[in-house]
Amino acid sequence: MHRFLFAAAGIFFLTVPVAAQEDPGAKLPPGEGRDVVMKVCTKCHDPSIAAEQSFDEKGWKDLVDQMESNGARGTEAEFAQIVAYLSKAFPAK
Ligand code: HEC
Repeated sequence: MHRFLFAAAGIFFLTVPVAAQEDPGAKLPPGEGRDVVMKVCTKCHDPSIAAEQSFDEKGWKDLVDQMESNGARGTEAEFAQIVAYLSKAFPAK
């Protein structure tokens, strides 16, 4: 019985982090512009980190501008779609 519990716990701890890595964007709700976020914002980190933040539109624009100077590449239209998506998905509290 104890051995079984150990094995079950081992499987749990091994699979959870792997599953998290294989599913970038897991915390991004469906919505218009999500596909653009998945295209532009997955190169350096999981875009799910955006779910930790909440800003108004101006705040998201500043953050996306910051990502652009970090090296994010997209067109003006794509960045505008990203800002619109994020300010709807994660608005200021
Ligand atoms: C070229 C690499 C790169 C790309 C592409 C990129 N980022 Fe980042 N991102 C970073 C780096 C480096 C940091 C950590 C340093 C910082 O905050 O600037 C970061 C941090 C963040 C953070 C956390 C900020 C904080 O204060 O904790 C968020 C949210 C974020 N990025 C969102 C995005 C979004 C949205 C996009 C798509 C527009 C994006 N990133 C694209 C490099 C990138």
